[in-house]
Amino acid sequence: MDNIFDELIDRKNTDSLKWDYRKQRFGREDILPMWVADMDFKSPATITEAIIHRAKHGVFGYTEASEKLSAAIAAWMKNRHNWQIDNKWIVYSPGVVTSVNTAILAYTNPGDKVLIQPPIYYPFYSSIRDNGRELVVNPLKDNNGYYEMDFEDLEKKLADNVRVMIFCSPHNPIGRVWNTHELEEVLRLCKKYDVILISDEIHSDIVFKGHKHIPLSSLSKDGYKKCITLISPTKTFNIAGLSVSTALIPDLELKSRFINTLNKNGANMLNIFGLTAAEAAYTSCEKWLDELLEYLENNLNILEEYFKNNIPQIIVIRPEATYLAWLDCTNLPVPAEKLKEFFVNEAGVGLNDGAIFGEEGSGFQRLNFACPRNILLEGLERIKMAVDKVVNKG
Ligand SMILES: Cc1ncc(COP(=O)(O)O)c(C=O)c1O
Repeated sequence: MDNIFDELIDRKNTDSLKWDYRKQRFGREDILPMWVADMDFKSPATITEAIIHRAKHGVFGYTEASEKLSAAIAAWMKNRHNWQIDNKWIVYSPGVVTSVNTAILAYTNPGDKVLIQPPIYYPFYSSIRDNGRELVVNPLKDNNGYYEMDFEDLEKKLADNVRVMIFCSPHNPIGRVWNTHELEEVLRLCKKYDVILISDEIHSDIVFKGHKHIPLSSLSKDGYKKCITLISPTKTFNIAGLSVSTALIPDLELKSRFINTLNKNGANMLNIFGLTAAEAAYTSCEKWLDELLEYLENNLNILEEYFKNNIPQIIVIRPEATYLAWLDCTNLPVPAEKLKEFFVNEAGVGLNDGAIFGEEGSGFQRLNFACPRNILLEGLERIKMAVDKVVNKG
């Protein structure tokens, strides 16, 4: 085996959402799952060892995040993202989606407007609607496969009484790493209309060469503190099942409202293994991450070339970050509403249907390429066979 990430790991019978729930999610047991955003790789050995060490202690009572963990997070943000945070900003929560919901509950009232930028990570829709808030959308513009923000529309919408904007940076599913100009414009407009920004930066460690993630809040040099940053080691180190994440909240009043809402919902208790894993991740796993990034970028290159040479009917929107490829399938002779069925039943692959990310995603599919290369190639071959059949038939 040339590379640790080439190892084929059987995830079946581990209660894996991706592998063990294929029948429930896709109606078939035999599909190759390339959907939910976790990786088919082992986490760094250091994390596993830290968990085993903690497990051997044998007592698993209530816990709190240590100062060592906060220091590790601060050092990580400084080293990887050039942002000096104050440890006092840190609040822990079981997950980024929990934090998004918490922020919505803490900073808005029922009926208030919350803005998102579709196509976008689909749980944001339920975070807004299930809490009885009004959904406002500022769709991204697809300029021939390069997505950009529509600032004119954004300003119009923000001006109309939006209370909170949920920002996704880097953006899932279209994979953009927003540049300084774009980030400053978002900050400027939110400041102008007094909109609280929730910046979901869960994918910020998985960024490809030539791009640099800039934490939104780090650009807020003019005292606009109404920007909350949500980060987590779960995507970076493949530990989503350990439920751990961090909110960075510089404004003390916003921080206290956030904590009160977490407490009210009983979402303030943390998992010992999540915290143990986070500390190991942030202190000793940088080299592993750099190797992962190399591997993922090679997978992405292979995927892009494969589609270009063998399945030109599908256009890959090359992500600048994340291990998720956004596939433009609008040239396929398959109607948008039948695409999911086509990929499941004809190709035998389980992808995320673009329409779940908003109507702007209709005609697209999201493919997770964080898997050993052989699995990726098998998935691509399956897709090629199905596309060849449908194209030749047409
Ligand atoms: C943009 C984004 N936010 C949040 C999450 C989930 O975060 P958590 O599992 O911490 O709730 C994901 C997972 O795919 C994501 O892509």
